[in-house]
Amino acid sequence: MKLLVVGSGGREHAIAKKLIESKGVEKVFVAPGNDGMLSEGIELVDIAISEHSKLIDFAKKEAIAWTFVGPDDALAAGIVDAFESVGLVAFGPRKNASELEWSKDFAKSIMKKYGVPTARYETFSDFAAAKAYIEEEGAPIVVKADGLALGKGVVVAETVEEAVAAAQDMLLDNKFGDSGARVVIEECLSGEEFSLFAFVNGEDFYLMPTAQDHKRAFDGDKGPNTGGMGAYAPVPHLPAGVVEQAVTEIIQPVLKGMIAEGRPYLGILYAGLMLTVEGPKVIEFNARFGDPETQVILPRLTSDFAENITDLLEGKAPAFTWLEEGVTLGVVVASKGYPLDYEKGVLLPEKTSGEVETYYAGTKRNAAQALVSNGGRVYMLVTTQENVPQAQEIIYQQLRNQDTTGLFYRTDIGNKAIQ
Ligand code: AMP
Ligand code: GLY
Repeated sequence: MKLLVVGSGGREHAIAKKLIESKGVEKVFVAPGNDGMLSEGIELVDIAISEHSKLIDFAKKEAIAWTFVGPDDALAAGIVDAFESVGLVAFGPRKNASELEWSKDFAKSIMKKYGVPTARYETFSDFAAAKAYIEEEGAPIVVKADGLALGKGVVVAETVEEAVAAAQDMLLDNKFGDSGARVVIEECLSGEEFSLFAFVNGEDFYLMPTAQDHKRAFDGDKGPNTGGMGAYAPVPHLPAGVVEQAVTEIIQPVLKGMIAEGRPYLGILYAGLMLTVEGPKVIEFNARFGDPETQVILPRLTSDFAENITDLLEGKAPAFTWLEEGVTLGVVVASKGYPLDYEKGVLLPEKTSGEVETYYAGTKRNAAQALVSNGGRVYMLVTTQENVPQAQEIIYQQLRNQDTTGLFYRTDIGNKAIQ
């Protein structure tokens, strides 16, 4: 069987790698992918994720069994619906189900309607009304662009002035285009954040190990928000019963709600949660795998990934099995300056082998065929060990031996698990 993965980052590298390891998968194409992914059985296809008709033509020509959609913008643009309309199979929610991610107002309204615990909120398209609400509520307060904004549309404001400025950027100054034409303003929650992922078909869902991302650029959760600088799975220090509580209070009602709304969910549901004193509450839903969480979750899958997804797509109960022992931890290496301006073309270290796996994101081969940086997040080193300190030891030892000139990484990935 031949498969197609849509996307280009470390997440898609991890998906493609797991799929090519599956029995009966002879080739995995990735569109557009990145040069670092190239390996036995994984091929790149030079088609952008927005070019649905070209992707469809390719899938037909190559007799692709099904297509795995990685990124949020492809789902929001209705790529799954486009494939379905010509009788092709794509794994991911349809446009109307992925609205859980591409409209924060929609996600909040579903949560409100179906009683899912989340921060109190109001939605505004009028700046004066938003400003009045912020002044009435006081700070800290959170201002979010309604639509997709590459992870940059959320401002956790410490002061009323900062919150008003954020609302002004979005509603008056059009800083996020259409995505900021409406804003969700919500209560600031506090607690530890973690991610809960599930493979979903309608009301049926199959949980993955819990994971924790590190969104800020620098050590100690300082600096600007990024796409994610490192992750580990599972999160060993979550109190007993938290996942069960999240299942009954969050996952089950939202999936039932989506069916009741005529938007049955098929694909991966990613719940970004905060463990508050009142229990887990939803920070956001995403309609896809997380990056970099995927790179630490999928290595723990011990069942046949392609067979599991095929079963899910055919309405059968897939037999997912996971590594029970130890922890998988990964550190992202990014271009110096990311998430702001950065240089490209930095020569990258050799791919690791053995107990440390390298997943590639922003990379390409230069004219001399050397692998160089070509994006913000460049690669990620991942290992599975008995515990977090051992995994940190192995990854950071490897990183100290690599020439990371022009690049940077956080040195505290996983520390929350050992404090
Ligand atoms: P997002 O882009 O939705 O993932 O949000 C980025 C980050 O903002 C989250 O990872 C949280 O750390 C923070 N955040 C979002 N919503 C809230 C909230 N209601 N209270 C506190 N922090 C929040
Ligand atoms: N890890 C954050 C995200 O994928 O949105």
